[in-house]
Amino acid sequence: MNGPAASRVPLLDLGREYESISDELESAVLDVLRSQKYVLGPATARFEEEVARFLGVEHAIGVSSGSDAILLALAALDVGPGDQVVTTPFTFFATVAAIVRLGAEPVFADISASDYLLDPALVAQVVGERTRAILPVQLFGQCVDFDAFDSIARRLRIPVVEDAAQAIGARRGSFDAGAFGDLGCFSFYPTKNLAACGEAGLVTTSDERLAARVRRLRDQGSDRRYEHLEVGWNARLDGVQAAALSVKLRHLEGWTRMRGDLAARYDALLREAGLADTIGCPSTAPGATHVFHQYVIRAPRRDELRAHLTEQGIGTEVYYPTPMHLQPCFASLGYRAGDFPQAELASAEVLALPIFPQLRRDEQERVVAAIAAFYV
Ligand SMILES: Cc1ncc(COP(=O)(O)O)c(C=O)c1O
Repeated sequence: MNGPAASRVPLLDLGREYESISDELESAVLDVLRSQKYVLGPATARFEEEVARFLGVEHAIGVSSGSDAILLALAALDVGPGDQVVTTPFTFFATVAAIVRLGAEPVFADISASDYLLDPALVAQVVGERTRAILPVQLFGQCVDFDAFDSIARRLRIPVVEDAAQAIGARRGSFDAGAFGDLGCFSFYPTKNLAACGEAGLVTTSDERLAARVRRLRDQGSDRRYEHLEVGWNARLDGVQAAALSVKLRHLEGWTRMRGDLAARYDALLREAGLADTIGCPSTAPGATHVFHQYVIRAPRRDELRAHLTEQGIGTEVYYPTPMHLQPCFASLGYRAGDFPQAELASAEVLALPIFPQLRRDEQERVVAAIAAFYV
């Protein structure tokens, strides 16, 4: 075979993961189908126990998506009209949508240039009387500076909800992603490091009262059948997804190591190709484990580079091209271009390269050679 189509490098190839575990996965899913316990059954309870142990939290509550996880976590803290939640403008839409859905107001603080994460010093400047929660996002598979957030949150007694949708297994200092905040939120969307075969999510907490509240809110505000203590949602995790997640959780540490090796190899290949001074490679904070949900470079002439890579059959993506303060649906918040310069610069410069555990070494070499060819 010849030509770019023959040697495409996909941004992500879910088929390769499926091939590597198809027997285990099919058998687990078939067990649920045969049991006909589809919603909040034993498969869900088992996954919740396993993932709580994995993350080192007391409670893990399976929910219908990462978006719902954030909504339920904020609702469990009684976030509502009149409240403000401080978060990052450089995230996926769902982080901010959850705040707005509850009638509260998102207040943004800029990110730091080095890691794209919410800058704690800037958070401290915008926290005020109406701040009901701080919502950092563990973007691309890395954790915010927990010590800095701990001192702000403790000093001001403001709860922290982590959007750890992209960071299962990540760690910084003495905390795992999702185990630092009062509540942690995960997504198991099919592209995530731990991925369902559809939609799924998780809320974590070590606070028994919050755990009970999230359990109730995910199930129509009900602890007992047909008795509704409050108005909740239908946001339950189904058994088929839970069974698939239990199978994949057993592989997660190995897959995370493979992602780490691939990231280190990209670093080395880009350096060897003489690109270290041209593009910015991701960095990992001292004492942190980055799980490389994405390997994101900062690239001059990013859009031209992306077009060149597409032409070469190499998949890339821009996470995220428009920061949240400039989204049309949030115009009424009154933010303007220029308000968060680091988030805006990141939106113009970032490019995610292919990374997934089964990505081959020759594919990585092709990606780096194509980047080098563009800049040379
Ligand atoms: C940072 C972030 N927050 C929230 C979500 C929402 O998760 P979901 O797609 O499972 O609703 C995602 C994933 O898509 C995400 O990347």
